[in-house]
Amino acid sequence: MRTKIVAGNWKMNKDHIEAAELARGIADGITGGISCDVIVFPPFTALPAVIDILRDTEIETGGQNIYFEDQGAYTGEISAGMLNSLGCRFVLAGHSERRHIFGEGSEIISKKIRAAFRNGLSPVLCVGELLEERNKGMAEEVVEKQLREALEGISVVEMDKLILAYEPVWAIGTGETATPFDARDMHSFIRNVIGRTFDTDTAERVRIMYGGSVKPENSVELLSIEDIDGALVGGASLDPGSFIKIIESAP
Ligand code: PGA
Repeated sequence: MRTKIVAGNWKMNKDHIEAAELARGIADGITGGISCDVIVFPPFTALPAVIDILRDTEIETGGQNIYFEDQGAYTGEISAGMLNSLGCRFVLAGHSERRHIFGEGSEIISKKIRAAFRNGLSPVLCVGELLEERNKGMAEEVVEKQLREALEGISVVEMDKLILAYEPVWAIGTGETATPFDARDMHSFIRNVIGRTFDTDTAERVRIMYGGSVKPENSVELLSIEDIDGALVGGASLDPGSFIKIIESAP
């Protein structure tokens, strides 16, 4: 049984004061017990405040990005060790905005995953195809290549600490969601790739979140699908009410 995960990627939204309000809103708004794991990814400047507020809750915190070196003359960058010492347990890698706005390719993503493991963080590896790739029938090929390149050299033990997220690029921030059937098919394809790359037990254990315009209106259906182990939520995670509804929709 894989415990579902609901994660909120706040992207470049909320200063540290607004982020603290959002974190408090989520923590206070969860009244009953929660059946899923919950992770939030605030911007760097808000991490100390958010971690402080969420300290005695079940909600975990992660960083949105890291540089792959551990320290040194890399002006403007943040290391995995810095996030770990703040209290982060997770970090995103390969998010489509990093791939497509900042030009990050597989080599950098793979180095970031290694840096995360080296420093005690669990990476959340995001993969997903562009609309033109899907229209050309290349979605599976693109996703398999992203997985293979990012996971090269990763051990089975490390795989148990890694989380995957399938986020079709055309569904991110657009209001478009993959149909539950398309999402289900891609999730089982990804599990299959993990099985072929590692082994079937590892594939059965790995959690694969879906991301791309997840909101309370579609989260119940998406999270009820067996191979969809959670939701990586952008826009709808910025409002405590809608984020909590998504958390509560996890079976
Ligand atoms: P969205 O973003 O929910 O706003 O589409 C998802 C993501 O980028 O992780």
